[in-house]
Amino acid sequence: MIIKSAVFVKSAPSLRISPNHNMPEYAFIGRSNVGKSSLINFITGIKGLAKTSSTPGKTQLINYFLLNNSWYLVDLPGLGYAKTSKVNREKFENIIADYLCNRKELLSTFLLIDIRHAPQKIDVEFMEWMAEKSLPFVIVFTKIDKLTKAELNKNLTYYKNELLKSWEELPDIFLTSSEKNIGKDEIISFIEKTNKILLK
Ligand code: GTP
Ligand code: MG
Repeated sequence: MIIKSAVFVKSAPSLRISPNHNMPEYAFIGRSNVGKSSLINFITGIKGLAKTSSTPGKTQLINYFLLNNSWYLVDLPGLGYAKTSKVNREKFENIIADYLCNRKELLSTFLLIDIRHAPQKIDVEFMEWMAEKSLPFVIVFTKIDKLTKAELNKNLTYYKNELLKSWEELPDIFLTSSEKNIGKDEIISFIEKTNKILLK
């Protein structure tokens, strides 16, 4: 699939006032600063479409982007972004949980994880929560340009083995670098395949 068009549609503070449509949606979630907005810009080919920042907590609303007039990418606020107050953080988390559980257009969620780090509690707990709710997700490792090939393989194997201690099988895994333009085709193919399943 070729991305012919990508437009920003709306920043919504909650699911209730999100856009009304019946097209497939794919959400990007992950810790603050992991590279969610950068990956959206990389996939759409439009720098600056999703706002990025080296300061965590840039994305604070549910941001909807329409691609090829036929499906949506959704940029969510950083998971567990702690710089805000506890009350604010809980409000954020409720908004995200409400979106993930109740957005009927959502076909799959991309959990973005920085490949440089060992499994973090917040990501592992998020995966367990998704499984409990029977919500489909895939893992997208980001920033692979920051590691050598040997380090990348070592971290990937370690991460998978850690997950396999509690998971019977692993979700689909993608390796990406928005900086070095790696991994876009695989993600777009996955979306294309998933869109087709829906249309059958
Ligand atoms: P929040 O909106 O705050 O939750 O962050 P985010 O997950 O949307 O991260 P964002 O895309 O804003 O990127 C955070 C920082 O990481 C920016 O400085 C990006 O330039 C950098 N970054 C993102 N992706 C990559 C990558 O693939 N490689 C490298 N080297 N840097 C990246
Ligand atoms: Mg962001």
